[in-house]
Amino acid sequence: MTEKSRRRTSDQLRSRLWFDNPDNPGMTALYLERYLNYGLTRQELQGKRPIIGIAQTGSDLSPCNRHHLELAKRVRDGIIEAGGVALEFPCHPIQETGKRPTACLDRNLAYLSLVEVLFGYPLDGVVLLTGCDKTTPACLMAAATVNIPAIALNVGPMLNGWFHGERTGSGTVVWKARERHAAGDIDYQQFMDIVGSSAPSVGHCNTMGTASTMNALAEALGMALPGSAAIPAPYRERGQMAYETGKRIVEMVWEDLKPSDILTREAFENAIVANAAIGGSTNAPIHLNALAKHIGVPLDCDDWERVGFEIPLLVNVQPAGAYLGEEYFRAGGLPAVMAELIGAGRIHENALTCTGRTIGENCRGKFSWDRDVIRSYDNPLKENAGFLNLKGNLFDSAIMKTSVIGDEFRERYLSNPEDPNAFEGPVVVFDGPEDYHHRIDDPSLGIDEHTILIMRGAGPVGYPGAAEVVNMQPPGALIKKGVLSLPCIGDGRQSGTSGTPSILNASPEAAVGGGLALLRTGDRIRIDLNKRRADILIPDEELQRRRAELREQGGYPYPESQTPWQEIQRAMVDQLSEGMTLRPAVKFQRVAQK
Ligand code: FES
Ligand code: MG
Repeated sequence: MTEKSRRRTSDQLRSRLWFDNPDNPGMTALYLERYLNYGLTRQELQGKRPIIGIAQTGSDLSPCNRHHLELAKRVRDGIIEAGGVALEFPCHPIQETGKRPTACLDRNLAYLSLVEVLFGYPLDGVVLLTGCDKTTPACLMAAATVNIPAIALNVGPMLNGWFHGERTGSGTVVWKARERHAAGDIDYQQFMDIVGSSAPSVGHCNTMGTASTMNALAEALGMALPGSAAIPAPYRERGQMAYETGKRIVEMVWEDLKPSDILTREAFENAIVANAAIGGSTNAPIHLNALAKHIGVPLDCDDWERVGFEIPLLVNVQPAGAYLGEEYFRAGGLPAVMAELIGAGRIHENALTCTGRTIGENCRGKFSWDRDVIRSYDNPLKENAGFLNLKGNLFDSAIMKTSVIGDEFRERYLSNPEDPNAFEGPVVVFDGPEDYHHRIDDPSLGIDEHTILIMRGAGPVGYPGAAEVVNMQPPGALIKKGVLSLPCIGDGRQSGTSGTPSILNASPEAAVGGGLALLRTGDRIRIDLNKRRADILIPDEELQRRRAELREQGGYPYPESQTPWQEIQRAMVDQLSEGMTLRPAVKFQRVAQK
């Protein structure tokens, strides 16, 4: 338990500076009066009760999180039951699939705006209503920066999707259906029907995409109640968990239990281990590295490989496995996974969590109810299922998700460190997703099964926010021949729902002078996974000549910004390996104490 000595008294509540400050009656009256105007009483606001914010990320524009409009009522009930006062407020909407040019553009915008709310208003603690991909990191990052007591509540995944008796998982089914569409097996209407079946209820993606991943990791970090992440959105347990979360945040305020107590180096290492075991998204390193920066914990992509690579895949959920969110929940969700990892000695058990207890106390003794869905550590789906962090003369860092590498490829290129095998091939280069869509089926490109596809101009600066476009589908003609995937490398991201083992998040990106900018169609690349290398096979002098030429042309060209925020972020955003944080924002840590 957190020490009783740290218990706050009601005089120490942050909100009293606004609502009950006899030293400054004028300001207190001004702060107070408008909050009375919809029926709140002075007794509630000046009654020495914790004022708890409910950061509402759901709206009609954010359908993945929209069920939070209902769940917030149960959060509020829990807050009141525990003696707090609830103030709900809207967050900047982020809808992963609906926002142009890409939802990730808005992660830092939502972060900034939430920091201002948490810092500038009379809040003693906050419930972060998370869900869709970027909403979770944006909320956690803001809570880390301000450092007031905070707890996350996921909206929960949708129910399983089904089509003609088969599970259809969000996102993952799109990648499969587009192959069938390209091969001419299904028409446009059937394509829409299949994909539509994967969204049968309220909630976020039911696969282990970025939403399920980031909420599982919020729990692994200790920022959400044990077992809360996996509950499907419509289940009654979700509403009950909302109530418990509301009750718990009030206690956290009295215990003065803040993000900086929970988000330690050990907690981040636990989350990296958990991410490998669940087959988590390649967006996770971006968001966790960013969160770590905002709380002041050193963390980089080398840590992801060092801590996570050897961890086996335990969770049999799409895209790395077969099942979806409902089976994962019934099998025990994250606590069952953590119990396996704890049993194998892979978890820092003493990491403190939002319950006031350690992660070991929360999860030890839990177990999987279904060994086909959550495997035991001794009988995993795959060994060594974490991320590789590749380097070379093309980039300083690029991530590869090994849990989605097929057995044959893994056997050939990754399993035997003594084997000199590496894969090598000519590249075809695309400058952004539009260029790819226009040209991929052009026969003159000569794409065959030996080709490596390159996507550049898709990083945080080149395609503001970094597009999820690196998992490129081969040309239709190749798919018809049965070649369903080709090696892909890019400076953009890839959807967490994709099962393609791309080499992605390459940093630095072409737009800021990264090596991908020097590539030309027809160059050869050698990728040696055992050595964690990816290199262009052309002499240094030629590379230098191309670099000088590019400099003379004014650098790698990218489209102009379309909005003020695109322009502002481009001027100050870090690369994907650095978490895509805003450089000036990182120095502001724990601002509520200052
Ligand atoms: Fe929102 Fe997947 S698109 S959770
Ligand atoms: Mg996505």
